[in-house]
Amino acid sequence: MAESKRRGASPSESASGSLVIRGGTVVDAGGTRVADVVVSGGVVIEVGAEVAVPPGATVLDAGGCLVAPGLVDLHTHLRQPGAEDAETIETGARAAALGGFTAVVAMPNTDPPVDSAAVALEVLSLGSGAACQVAVAGAITMGRAGERLAPIGELAALGVRLFTDDGAGVQDVSVMRRALEYARGFDVTLAQHCEDDALASGGHMHEGEWSSRLGVPGIPAEAEELMVARDIALVRLTGGRVHFLHISTAGSVALVAAAKAEGLAVTAEVTPHHLSLTHAELAGYDPVFKVNPPLRPETDVCALRAACASGIVDAVATDHAPHAPERKDATLDVAPPGMLGLQTALPVVLGALGAAGFDREHGAGSARNGAGRDRAQVMSVRDVLGLLSWRPARIAGLARDQGGEHGGPIEPGAPANICVIDPAATWEVDPARLASRSRNTPWAGRVMTGQVRHTVFRGEAVVVDAQVQR
Ligand code: DOR
Repeated sequence: MAESKRRGASPSESASGSLVIRGGTVVDAGGTRVADVVVSGGVVIEVGAEVAVPPGATVLDAGGCLVAPGLVDLHTHLRQPGAEDAETIETGARAAALGGFTAVVAMPNTDPPVDSAAVALEVLSLGSGAACQVAVAGAITMGRAGERLAPIGELAALGVRLFTDDGAGVQDVSVMRRALEYARGFDVTLAQHCEDDALASGGHMHEGEWSSRLGVPGIPAEAEELMVARDIALVRLTGGRVHFLHISTAGSVALVAAAKAEGLAVTAEVTPHHLSLTHAELAGYDPVFKVNPPLRPETDVCALRAACASGIVDAVATDHAPHAPERKDATLDVAPPGMLGLQTALPVVLGALGAAGFDREHGAGSARNGAGRDRAQVMSVRDVLGLLSWRPARIAGLARDQGGEHGGPIEPGAPANICVIDPAATWEVDPARLASRSRNTPWAGRVMTGQVRHTVFRGEAVVVDAQVQR
């Protein structure tokens, strides 16, 4: 891959200076065109063919690359405050930038949790110097305990748009009803981790063929689907808005599809790992594959992919869940659930949904084309980028017409939050070289096809030639 040329200014100096992203194919919600992109003072100032390079501008080579709006992750665990041995806002944001993300929504299951303005302000302040925008989600209930409502209005006044007790679902139906009624008044969205504790409790993987073979207690699909169905009923009752986090089963897809057909205000995300891995990965009892919701059978994986292609699923979100090796390298029953996702999301999702195809033997990043795949599951790269950028930007309240600065389109006057992707580049995932403080990637040693080459955040090249600059 050709080195990007820099003229006169270093990438970090380019924050208020000029950048030219040269020779790529611009892909955004508006369409696809071959164009150079000129950035100055943090905004896009020109998009066109063979532009003149302003004196002193940094030139980022984008030959053979896609130039897209920066990706937006609706679901990132940054672990700060409270578990800085697993991740910090700084290291997580670096991993995000390397993955092409220019904004992430930090989950509130920190210690203390984000159930007060003070903690939300701390996260926002720690994020203000990070390599991408760090938005924060607030808890629905105090302490994420599912009993008393968090100060949703106070948090909404700080700009918090999403509320969730993620890591746990709100079990009590009357608490969830009140939360929805309360949230309506502030025009915010409740994001539900759908899991019925009574059914899921004690399980460590999907309840099915593999849990029986391995003798591991399982979590049935119904533990998720019961809460999806319940919350759809509550949306109908209250007129509130629910975003379903990491749905993982064909049954959840069917419920969301029916709710959307009815015109209810629901959205749903899926994760890269649920689009690409099955419960068979647990065959070796490796805790790196323990995640919540659990990896499901291939029929569910196929249903999720089809739901991405049909538009039922609104976003792909990483559920980046770092865990320090001291905790994660344990037996399956003891290890906490969760896996890293930020740096591998794009190639995994392109592999699972896009032209590269999905190949069980070689993994999601296989360069082999998707032989035998159902054509209904193959999406255009632009639609895949929509799931990772402009559609989640809207759910997070970070789109331009919502007062935010993400999701594009790439046009003069737009904030310069851009990622440049080389769809053909291959790279091997080495856990020791990831930017995260933790190492719990399910993709260790796998070869990915597709790499984020540059990331531009607020006009600054924070990633150049796949190397983070700050
Ligand atoms: O696997 C998971 N890990 N699922 C969740 O919902 C929470 C997350 C975490 O915080 O580790």
